[in-house]
Amino acid sequence: MKDMIKQYGNYFQLDTSNTTYSFRVTQTKHLEHLYYGEKIKIDSEDEADFLYEKHEFAAGNTVLYNNDNVNLTLEDERLEFSSYGKGDIREPFVIVTGEDGLFTSDFLFKEAKITKGKEKFKTLPGSYDMAEGVDHLEVILLDDNAKIELQLHYFVYEDTDVITRSAKIVNRNEDKSICVERLMSTQLDLDADDYVLTTFNGAWAREMEKHEFKVTAGKHVNSSYTGTSSSRANPFIMLSKENTTEDFGEVYAFNLIYSGNHYEAVECASNHKLRVVTGINPTNFMFKIAAGEVFEAPEAVMTYSAKGFNEMSHNMHEFVREHITRGKYKYANRPILINSWEASYFDFNESKLLKLAKAAKDVGIELFVLDDGWFGKRDNDKCSLGDWFENTQKLPNGLEGLANKINALGLDFGLWVEPEMVNVDSELYRIHPEWCVSHPDKPHSEGRNQRILDLSNDEVVSYIIEAMTKVFSSANIKYVKWDMNRIFSDYYSNALAQRGVFAQKELSHRYVMGLYKIMEELTRRFPDILFEGCSAGGNRFDLGILSYFPQIWASDDTDAIYRVGAQNNYSYGYPQSCYTAHVSACPNHQTLRETPLDTRFNVAAFASFGYECNLCDMSKEELDEIKEQIEIYKKYRQVFLYGDFYRYDRKNTDNLYQWIVVSKDKTTAVGMILQKLVNANTTFNMFKLKGLENDRKYLFTNRVIKQNIKNFGDLINTQSPIHIKNKSFLQHLVSKFVSMPGETEVYLSSGSAFMKGGVKLTQAYGATGYNDKVRYFQDFSSKMYFIEEKIIEEN
Ligand code: DGJ
Repeated sequence: MKDMIKQYGNYFQLDTSNTTYSFRVTQTKHLEHLYYGEKIKIDSEDEADFLYEKHEFAAGNTVLYNNDNVNLTLEDERLEFSSYGKGDIREPFVIVTGEDGLFTSDFLFKEAKITKGKEKFKTLPGSYDMAEGVDHLEVILLDDNAKIELQLHYFVYEDTDVITRSAKIVNRNEDKSICVERLMSTQLDLDADDYVLTTFNGAWAREMEKHEFKVTAGKHVNSSYTGTSSSRANPFIMLSKENTTEDFGEVYAFNLIYSGNHYEAVECASNHKLRVVTGINPTNFMFKIAAGEVFEAPEAVMTYSAKGFNEMSHNMHEFVREHITRGKYKYANRPILINSWEASYFDFNESKLLKLAKAAKDVGIELFVLDDGWFGKRDNDKCSLGDWFENTQKLPNGLEGLANKINALGLDFGLWVEPEMVNVDSELYRIHPEWCVSHPDKPHSEGRNQRILDLSNDEVVSYIIEAMTKVFSSANIKYVKWDMNRIFSDYYSNALAQRGVFAQKELSHRYVMGLYKIMEELTRRFPDILFEGCSAGGNRFDLGILSYFPQIWASDDTDAIYRVGAQNNYSYGYPQSCYTAHVSACPNHQTLRETPLDTRFNVAAFASFGYECNLCDMSKEELDEIKEQIEIYKKYRQVFLYGDFYRYDRKNTDNLYQWIVVSKDKTTAVGMILQKLVNANTTFNMFKLKGLENDRKYLFTNRVIKQNIKNFGDLINTQSPIHIKNKSFLQHLVSKFVSMPGETEVYLSSGSAFMKGGVKLTQAYGATGYNDKVRYFQDFSSKMYFIEEKIIEEN
């Protein structure tokens, strides 16, 4: 077994397959960060000399660390972590205040231990290691007179080029408590060099917009303060050199295994060094630690690639698949589902649901999901959250009766719940108004007519565990969608009130810890249920949730033209098996946009896949097409879910998207090209394949789709023997019997040829003619391509 962590005297080096991370203990016992980047070879402490920054005299107007070291100002060092009040005035890593009110701290190196294996965190989820045990470096630092210990933990996931870090504060006082005001999870001090920060921001139904900032001076903060990791600012960020593309250039990426308020600051300080810190958002955060107790910061995830964004994503994807997601569905085929929400919202009864289920079964769907509206007296979103018993008016045979009938049709049954919430109009609230987060003296600021249950209260945590155990055991439930539809306000916990004045500032973090207790216990009790996270779409899309639930509903916006961008952007940090996508009706319910059915499929298929529409209202042609889509998804499901996912550069245009997923054994790939808006006379597109084996032979084919004559309007008269008026009944009638051909693409060549030469696709329609060799590639069009290895017998 290789040792990925080495200590040469005061020098520490952490290696993954392709990267090196290193730091040293300085004379003053601080930790100087030295290097993070492409793998380098260093075999002794002396060989690392060149990496140390040479300081002889500190700059004017800085603070010397102490008089014995006239060269040392902490403001000008690259540090592994930074505490507060000894000269470093950049973003601190840790701030702890003692009972005496003092908050200047100076943590100095005490010892380091290199071990194998990873213990579970006590209060938070974390990555988990492989059988032989992940390489672990623990560095212990002490602030001697305050009697506070700071532990830095490093875990080296060699196989995925990922290093994770976390930190703990231990109160070594015998009788005094301390208050943690800030404890970050990682800090990385780089020599600044034109870095571009990329963050993923958005809102409800508009998650994961990609934003880039050149960080040359000052500070950029990506953070959430919603109580969740939030659709406003995903905790995944990237830092790249300006010219980095999908396949070339340097990029660092960071994520956090945490589902609450998070904070990622990138600061280019006056000394032109760049600092990144990530961790729990310190705004309105405090945590009291009694003598002898420990506080754990969440685990931060870091990777580096010298080969562009795609390789960085592959590192993150493999890490998430291998070391974050767990349980039965880690690599299993996720069922193709039909979800009742956009099909009928709150307006359903058993017979309506069964009709939908029957239609779903007929096209090949495998799982029926009953979304919101099945419990209490819930006919709208104003009541009943908290009352987790069936609405017998809608479901006279209860959940069990419905599930049995759905099972009899040959489908599995799944259910929606929103356990963290309560409506004021509910039996639960009437009995336990004190269980929700609500300011005692102010009128409550409502969000979707509901309030948040106080998960910092153990009683509430136990209640939710038992209430959900009852629901999940009440029928043959194979899937659960766990929703959470509002953000925090009116911060106040009755339970925390007994803990003193500042305890309310612990609420947000305690809520998240309570949530993790619930998820841990329920996934333990129900290991066969496939859980899907959801928070008004992607308002809690993070590695904390993925540590329990292997997939998350990415957005309430099911419009394929929005989704192509959102899924493209999720894919930077998360593997496609982790986000779910559904084909829905058109006009789309969020945008009222019409997109072709094949485009809706072509986008949703590159994810955990399903349908969310009223199949009973669909035409025979549409249902036939859906049947074919489902066959394709089933055939390529493992590649769609778990293949290596590649994006293509989009050269500053948001118009054209290309993806390819390639099976691990490189025998099979599926590609997709999508155009948002057509430009006349831009008819040539090339598909440069990626990820194939150079010397193997592959057959490249497409999905041949005949085109409806309606798509050509009155141009059809250039071919029709009779005049067909656009939008007329005659046009409708003729379209039932006559269609326009679709192009066929069949090419056989080697992986290297396809990857280097690129497939020159058939000419797209460009206003000058159409036949069976022309590609219909208009507004919102997309094409799917299949690439299969072809074994050619040699004579
Ligand atoms: C928000 C979710 O994101 C939707 O998919 C749906 O489940 C609704 N909640 C139901 O209230």
